[in-house]
Amino acid sequence: MIFGHGKHVVHDGRAWGDGEQDSFPTFSTLPVPETRPFDDFLSFDYYHQRCPQLEQIISTKLKSWIAKDHTLAASLLRLHFHDCFVTGCDASILLNHEGSERRAGTSKTLRGFQVIDDIKAEVEKSCLATVSCTDILTAATRDATVILGGPYWRVPYGRKDSTTSNEKDADTVPIGRESVTELLELFQSKGLNLVDLVVLSGVHTIGRTSCGAIQHRVFQGLNGTSDMSIDNRYLDYLQRKCRCGGDEYVDLDATTPTTFDSQFYANLERKMGLLSTDQRLYSDSRTLPVVNALIQTPSLFRHQFAVSMVRLANIQVLSGPHEDGQIRTNCSFVNSY
Ligand code: HEM
Repeated sequence: MIFGHGKHVVHDGRAWGDGEQDSFPTFSTLPVPETRPFDDFLSFDYYHQRCPQLEQIISTKLKSWIAKDHTLAASLLRLHFHDCFVTGCDASILLNHEGSERRAGTSKTLRGFQVIDDIKAEVEKSCLATVSCTDILTAATRDATVILGGPYWRVPYGRKDSTTSNEKDADTVPIGRESVTELLELFQSKGLNLVDLVVLSGVHTIGRTSCGAIQHRVFQGLNGTSDMSIDNRYLDYLQRKCRCGGDEYVDLDATTPTTFDSQFYANLERKMGLLSTDQRLYSDSRTLPVVNALIQTPSLFRHQFAVSMVRLANIQVLSGPHEDGQIRTNCSFVNSY
């Protein structure tokens, strides 16, 4: 459930769709079951005493990076997703050594590492060994969303950073070819539900994909099999755009690529979802009612996106006195002491 205070969203952790997954009632009767607000040790005021200027530092640094390269905003959102979906939100994706998640095939097109390193260096000047890299990535993701025109939400803090990172663990990150059942199982294994899947997929309203990631969708028709789930003219455009190979980029949202809106869902209705996984949300009877609701009531997307992002940032966090994490001083490396 969400409460709007002006443009700020305060979230108590209860979310649309936390209950039944298969049948969707109308909005007025949506179930709102109790769940924990967030991890017991995370709190909004965690850094109030420890590092009062934290959010100011992050916001100022981030704005200057995005002013130089606006594509970094979307890239940070994806980086946060990959962090949280592989062994929880613990900055394991940022560790840069042989065999780390960052070196995995699924991480090849991830960007934004330098931004986090730079923010971290600035934070260290004021708050030595106090703020975790994963908390910085989480807050930077929220700020990037706002810069993109998306919703604001309050970030609960107190996560610690991992001391290990394993390339193999990153194999579980979805690459855009999965079935809805596989995605649902994956999301459920992280404590997220069907609504989170549909709403978080809506982040593909911004950002780009490399042609390499959509090769199968764009060129399979040329082998004699035709993909009925993609608009013909759109397919033609994609084939021209990606003809030179995997390094070209295509906007994930074909109609309003730079606006954080719910147009992404209307694109699915017109068979213009770029990733197979996105388009399948429209053809699957479990996810279709949620997609339709988001098409009919666009404002729902902003609110629910904020809720689902807090839930995403809560996955398997290392927090509290008994967790085996650390506050890295350099986000790319485990502390040597
Ligand atoms: C539901 C499962 C998901 C799948 C299968 C998926 C898949 C993908 C793929 C294949 C790309 C293109 C990668 C490339 O260029 O090689 C991509 C881009 C992106 N994804 Fe997802 N994604 C999913 C969920 C999410 C979530 C939960 C978030 C964040 C909350 C997210 C944020 C992004 C962003 C922002 C981009 C664009 C990145 C950029 O422009 O640099 N994705 N995704």
